[in-house]
Amino acid sequence: MKEFFYLFLFMLHFTEGCDLDQNTQRVDVTGHLGESVVLPCSCTELQAKPPQLTWTFTSLKHTTKPEEIYPNQRSERHRDRVKLLNESSPGNLSLHISNLNTEDQGEYHCSVLHQPHINITLSVQGCHLSDHGKRKEVSGYTGGSVLLPCSCTDPQTTVKFTWLLLNGSHRNEVFKNEIYKGRLKLFNESNPANLSLLISDLRKEDEGTYRCEISPTYPDITVKIKGCDLDQNTQRVDVTGHSGESVVLPCSCTELQAKPPQLTWTFTSLNHTTEPEEIYPNQQSERHRDRVKLLNESSPGNLSLHISNLNTEDQGEYHCSVLHQPHINITLSVQE
Ligand SMILES: *[C@@H]1O[C@H](CO)[C@@H](O)[C@H](O)[C@H]1NC(C)=O
Ligand SMILES: *[C@@H]1O[C@H](CO)[C@@H](O)[C@H](O)[C@H]1NC(C)=O
Ligand SMILES: *[C@@H]1O[C@H](CO)[C@@H](O)[C@H](O)[C@H]1NC(C)=O
Ligand SMILES: *[C@@H]1O[C@H](CO)[C@@H](O)[C@H](O)[C@H]1NC(C)=O
Ligand SMILES: *[C@@H]1O[C@H](CO)[C@@H](O)[C@H](O)[C@H]1NC(C)=O
Ligand SMILES: *[C@@H]1O[C@H](CO)[C@@H](O)[C@H](O)[C@H]1NC(C)=O
Ligand SMILES: *[C@@H]1O[C@H](CO)[C@@H](O)[C@H](O)[C@H]1NC(C)=O
Ligand SMILES: *[C@@H]1O[C@H](CO)[C@@H](O)[C@H](O)[C@H]1NC(C)=O
Ligand SMILES: *[C@@H]1O[C@H](CO)[C@@H](O)[C@H](O)[C@H]1NC(C)=O
Ligand SMILES: *[C@@H]1O[C@H](CO)[C@@H](O)[C@H](O)[C@H]1NC(C)=O
Repeated sequence: MKEFFYLFLFMLHFTEGCDLDQNTQRVDVTGHLGESVVLPCSCTELQAKPPQLTWTFTSLKHTTKPEEIYPNQRSERHRDRVKLLNESSPGNLSLHISNLNTEDQGEYHCSVLHQPHINITLSVQGCHLSDHGKRKEVSGYTGGSVLLPCSCTDPQTTVKFTWLLLNGSHRNEVFKNEIYKGRLKLFNESNPANLSLLISDLRKEDEGTYRCEISPTYPDITVKIKGCDLDQNTQRVDVTGHSGESVVLPCSCTELQAKPPQLTWTFTSLNHTTEPEEIYPNQQSERHRDRVKLLNESSPGNLSLHISNLNTEDQGEYHCSVLHQPHINITLSVQE
């Protein structure tokens, strides 16, 4: 009876030993940058506890000797990022690696005493952010454009990404937002690793913080937009011209590169017998027809009005106005 009991114990011990599951002898595992991965390894008996388990790592380029990463870490490389998944089953020797980076690529060997190791090749995919991403603020002018930089170092990278405008807790995808319609351009067609976004025909409302949403997270980019503030130093100006000659009525944005929203020039005759009438961009009467033009070719923010072939009837008040701002008031007198 006693002999049977010991035989039973012996057999129990024997069957409970850990044989590495060699079905998984050569395995390729793919992970993604910044994410976690599980390298599979187990005893055929999941309740068996293995003798002397070790995990070793050899870098992809074989530039390093195989180094132990579990249970001891020989280098800083995997420090605090590896753990075993054997809590519920002592024979599950799978290794969990968190916060993956491209340097984690290589061969991983799961070994227990006196048995051929399991050989796992890990590759890590995803966008390895380039240094271009250090730029966290870009600025543009109304009517102009800005390039929001976002790119991966590896030109072969293919990643899923999108651009967000951070607006409170709201997930605001710029490509789904009507206000950007026809104003966005990507460059990933010619270069899949270039995820940069060009926003053109800028408006003041485009200002904000943008995120190139990939994994791992790209630093957010703050976009500042310089709009047109009328230069109020010239709020009241007297200008004198001469009959038959030309004159320039000065008006400008403080930022000469900014394009103003809804510029209008209006005219009120000297004797105030007429209502103020628009003379730019539309002419309400024949009075200034073909004699006014803007001088904004080189600087969109130079709103000065050029009037040619002056006559005394041009005398009066000229108002330069842009949306939501006090107008500039210029009094023109014309000498014979
Ligand atoms: C998990 O494996 C380690 C190393 O082999 C061992 O020290 C530990 O006791 C195991 N945990 C369980 C729950 O078996
Ligand atoms: C080992 O544990 C991991 C995580 O819980 C699990 O995904 C895996 O399937 C287990 N392996 C086996 C052979 O049960
Ligand atoms: C591990 O597997 C890789 C790819 O399958 C192979 O190139 C390499 O020689 C193997 N290493 C060992 C030590 O078996
Ligand atoms: C940002 O959120 C506010 C309030 O939710 C909303 O009024 C505004 O239109 C949003 N801006 C954009 C650009 O979607
Ligand atoms: C460029 O990126 C956008 C947004 O992720 C995607 O919809 C599009 O298919 C990509 N184009 C190419 C050529 O990869
Ligand atoms: C992405 O494309 C834009 C437009 O061609 C270019 O200005 C920018 O430099 C590119 N970025 C990278 C990192 O190649
Ligand atoms: C000059 O101003 C007009 C009216 O605001 C605008 O339509 C035009 O595009 C501007 N020209 C330039 C070069 O900015
Ligand atoms: C606007 O343009 C006119 C004509 O070129 C020039 O005389 C004037 O100085 C400019 N205004 C500003 C503020 O640059
Ligand atoms: C008032 O001025 C306008 C233009 O300067 C001129 O056409 C009109 O005849 C003037 N009216 C009177 C009553 O002087
Ligand atoms: C414009 O300026 C003139 C002379 O400086 C002044 O008489 C007139 O009241 C001003 N008009 C407005 C609307 O500010």
